[in-house]
Amino acid sequence: MDKLIVEGGHRLQGAVNISGSKNASLPILAAALLTDEPVRISRVPDVSDTNYMIQILSQLGASVERSSGTVRIESPDGISSSASYEQVRKMRASICLLGPMMARMKRCTLPLPGGCVIGDRPVDLHLRAIQALGARVRVKGGNMVIEAPNGLVGTTVDMRGDSGPTVLGTDNLMMAAVLAKGKTVIESAAREPEVVDLANFLNKMGARIEGAGSRTITIHGVEKLHGCEHTVIPDRIEAGTFMVAGAMYSDGITLNRVCREHMKSISDLLVECGHVVEYNEDGTSVFVKPGANPRSGKILTNPYPGYPTDMQAQMTALFAVTPGISVVKDTIFPQRFMHCSELKRMGANIKVDAGTAIITGVEGLSGAPVMASDLRASAALVLAALAAEGTTEIHRLYHIDRGYEMLDEKLGMLGARVRRELDPEGGPVEP
Ligand code: UD1
Repeated sequence: MDKLIVEGGHRLQGAVNISGSKNASLPILAAALLTDEPVRISRVPDVSDTNYMIQILSQLGASVERSSGTVRIESPDGISSSASYEQVRKMRASICLLGPMMARMKRCTLPLPGGCVIGDRPVDLHLRAIQALGARVRVKGGNMVIEAPNGLVGTTVDMRGDSGPTVLGTDNLMMAAVLAKGKTVIESAAREPEVVDLANFLNKMGARIEGAGSRTITIHGVEKLHGCEHTVIPDRIEAGTFMVAGAMYSDGITLNRVCREHMKSISDLLVECGHVVEYNEDGTSVFVKPGANPRSGKILTNPYPGYPTDMQAQMTALFAVTPGISVVKDTIFPQRFMHCSELKRMGANIKVDAGTAIITGVEGLSGAPVMASDLRASAALVLAALAAEGTTEIHRLYHIDRGYEMLDEKLGMLGARVRRELDPEGGPVEP
């Protein structure tokens, strides 16, 4: 399997462009199934998750062309209503095909996603939502077989689960409801910028969605959707990851193509911890450098606009070298602390108990061979490796490739010494 070799101790400087959002792209790509007319989506990051989604769409019978960040999709009538386990198992987010497939074909067969390293990842809320619109759900041979022979009918659905609202669940319900009969009201909707981007895309296709970004989304079903063009929002998690790199070990870096509004909780925490975060006037570019007196901090992950669970691992790497005691509690995925044992191998002082990490800052980290366990955990290891003394080898690189476009090239542009060592045998590409 490919690995990333990071030679620590080279302070970053310079500027990079942030890519389009992976998490916004995935449901938007799936939503292309809602029309038989072509859609063009720009700034889709070239990462393995978007590639998996494109492969699934092609397998279903859509014609897909991709060139320099723009994806053109045309889904003629007659596309398949069932996706294969081989494709779907590679990416849990393929659950977001459920809404568009049900809206377009009134039936679908999708493999049930299993658990993953960050937790159980249930889909009960997705199923509850589609059942509320009148579909029948059966589980057969590991697949969800979902049918609505009489079509979907709008209603009021509360999407709140035990851990708060669900992002892809809200997306799925919105996509199912755009072609349903009558009005659907989503209560306790997720408010993430990616949900708003999907709603904007669907409205460009002719949908009638109001309230995305608030707790209540109202959708008036329409007969048909049409083609459109759309540019995906900047990736706030990639931007946040680079901001942490800037605060952790740089002479100051500039990130272009960001959206200040989406970055508030991430920027605020870095400022609270004593770092320099300066946006340009229109909030599309940010300069970050380490503060003179960095301070420890506290994170309690929460749905947007709270602190994202997808950023806690990266901040844990920063806290590992920040004087004082920091606390990170993940209420959304309480098991998401696999990176901590690897950071400890690099010299970090972290105790994890019951969904909380207690981090006592150390003077410095030292390079070591480490294992990436999931996407954001791998980002945390890269950040730690940049600041560590000596060389770090990060194994299971495929986790990083799921969600960071050209990470090694971008870090290289900022002066990091990072290289990818390819497995001479090609290596098994595990999901
Ligand atoms: C999305 C993001 C992921 C991020 C997560 C939380 C994408 C592609 N992925 O994932 O990067 O970490 O939001 O911000 O956008 N839950 C249930 N039942 C369900 C669905 C979810 O109990 O049917 C729970 C989950 O276990 C979790 C919480 O709800 O505790 C939030 O998960 P959810 O928002 O659904 O995550 P995803 O949309 O899968």
